[in-house]
Amino acid sequence: TRHLLGIKDLTAQDIHLIFDTADNFKEVINRPIKKVPSLRDITIANIFFENSTRTKLSFELAQKRLSADVINFSASQSSVKKGETLLDTVNNILSMKVDMVVMRHPNPGAPHFLSKHVDVSIVNAGDGAHEHPTQALLDTYSIREKFGKVEGRKVVIVGDILHSRVALSNIFALQRLGAEVKVCGPLSLMPKHLGDLGVEVETDLRKALDWCEVANMLRVQNERLDRSYFPSTREYAQQFGLTGELLREMDKELVIMHPGPINRGVEISSEVADSDQSIILDQVENGVAVRMAVIYLLASKIKK
Ligand code: CP
Repeated sequence: TRHLLGIKDLTAQDIHLIFDTADNFKEVINRPIKKVPSLRDITIANIFFENSTRTKLSFELAQKRLSADVINFSASQSSVKKGETLLDTVNNILSMKVDMVVMRHPNPGAPHFLSKHVDVSIVNAGDGAHEHPTQALLDTYSIREKFGKVEGRKVVIVGDILHSRVALSNIFALQRLGAEVKVCGPLSLMPKHLGDLGVEVETDLRKALDWCEVANMLRVQNERLDRSYFPSTREYAQQFGLTGELLREMDKELVIMHPGPINRGVEISSEVADSDQSIILDQVENGVAVRMAVIYLLASKIKK
């Protein structure tokens, strides 16, 4: 396929190819000259209907490091505000001879819908509470970098699993690569299909941390929460927040991850987020190389 819509569509072999390609690009972007001419003939539009810092900047930088031409679109500053539809917006952008669209949208399935209606390569940069494939790729790449391989690692994903595209994409990626995955959080924030996915739920954070080698602490997504199903933020922090005190109690070398943006003092304390056990900024660094790999591999499938 010439799209990256979700991790669900990828095989372990696909993911290993992305990782090996990312290894090469990571070496490139650590050189004094960080750029390669590979995509000089490719034009990419980044269209964001939801806010973003990491994903948007990391895609843009990845594209520029590959020498692609880049245009950026934020719905909040666009004619979407005047009532223009998604399809009209994209068709107008494509008329400017664009080869690839990277899209973030609040509606699950929006990039899948688009892929059926326009003739362009599409990368999902997060669709509502559905998937965030490049986040899962950079997360699993960072685990591979830390441990040498993902296979056999024990990973717990902590937080609001129900509303988290990061959780779903990570579950798919970790399982494809042979890791063991558990989720931890309030039962009211667990989706019903977890059993079908073969993922065990642990509601006790201490037990979950005792079991795992890697803890991926998700952001409490206030913008997607139905407050009636959610404990107060203070209760959440007490039961599911990762603090220095709890880590010391565990007395083991856990690797701590977070996709960002962080609610400091809610799902993770500053002490833990900024500690030597945290690989949060390594995740962000790896995001550029992983996105270069995704774009490079998809661009090779675009017929000119
Ligand atoms: N991790 C992530 O998707 O962050 P942004 O929302 O800032 O892109």
